[in-house]
Amino acid sequence: MSDSVFLITGASSGIGAATARHAAAARYRVVLGARSADKLEQLAAELGGPERALAVECDVSEWEQQQAMVMAALEAYGQLDVVFANAGFGAKRGFLEDTPEQWRSMVLTNVYGAALTIRATLPALKESRGHLLLTGSVAGRRALPGSLYSATKWAVTAMGEAARQDLNGTGVRVTLIEPGMVATPFFEHQPTDALEADDVARAVMFAVSQPPHVDVNEILVRPTAQSG
Ligand SMILES: NC(=O)c1ccc[n+]([C@@H]2O[C@H](COP(=O)([O-])OP(=O)(O)OC[C@H]3O[C@@H](n4cnc5c(N)ncnc54)[C@H](OP(=O)(O)O)[C@@H]3O)[C@@H](O)[C@H]2O)c1
Repeated sequence: MSDSVFLITGASSGIGAATARHAAAARYRVVLGARSADKLEQLAAELGGPERALAVECDVSEWEQQQAMVMAALEAYGQLDVVFANAGFGAKRGFLEDTPEQWRSMVLTNVYGAALTIRATLPALKESRGHLLLTGSVAGRRALPGSLYSATKWAVTAMGEAARQDLNGTGVRVTLIEPGMVATPFFEHQPTDALEADDVARAVMFAVSQPPHVDVNEILVRPTAQSG
C-alpha cells in the first residue's frame, strides 16, 4: 500500500482535502489538484512534502491542465492507483438566478471537468487496474427544484455508471460517492446538522479498501437529520 498513488481533484478544500488527509494516513502518496495553488502547497507540506504529496494547480475544465496534472503525477510517482474526480461547485436554485457565466463555468467544471479527469487518467488506471471515484450527490439522484446544479450531478451519476460498464473487464473499479449536505465552503452559510467532510472521506476510504474483486458502485450518504 505504501507506494500506491491517490489523485484527487478539488483537493484544496472540503471533501477533497479531508480525503487527502485520510488517504495520506492510509499510507497513499497523494496528488492534489485544484485552482488554489497556495492551499494545495500548504496541504502537501502538511502531508509530508514532495516524497508523499504533490500539489498541482489545475482547472479541471481545461484539458491541457488535466493532461499536465497527470504527467506531473506520473513523473513524480510513476503510477496512478486511485483517482477521485471530486472538483465541483453549485449555483443558486432558480432558472432566473445567478448568471449564464456562472452556469457555464459550473457545467464545465462539474460535468466536462469530471469527464476530462476520466479521459486524462484512464490509461494509467487501466495499467494499475486501479479505482475511479466520482463525487455525485443526493442532488444527482433526485431533481431539486430550479437546480441546474442538480442536473449536473445527474450527469455525474450517469457518467459513473457509463464508465463502470465501459471499464468492465479491465479490472478498474468505479464508485459514485453521493453525499447529502456536507458542511464545507461549498455553502456560503454553513448548514446545521450536516455531515462533516471527514464523514464523506471515510466513505471514500471504505470503497477503496475493499478487496480487488469488490466494486462498491455507489455510496449515498446523508446526515441523519436530512429529510430530502
Ligand atoms: N457540500 C455538500 O453539501 C456537497 C454535497 C454533495 C456533493 N458535493 C460535491 O462535493 C464536491 C466537493 O465539494 P465540497 O463540498 O468539498 O466543497 P468545497 O469545499 O467548496 O470544495 C470544492 C473543491 O473543488 C475545487 N474546484 C472548484 N472548481 C474547480 C475547477 N474548475 N478546477 C479545479 N478544482 C475546482 C475547489 O478548489 P479551487 O477553488 O481551489 O479550484 C475545491 O477544492 C463537489 O463536486 C460538490 O458538488 C458537495
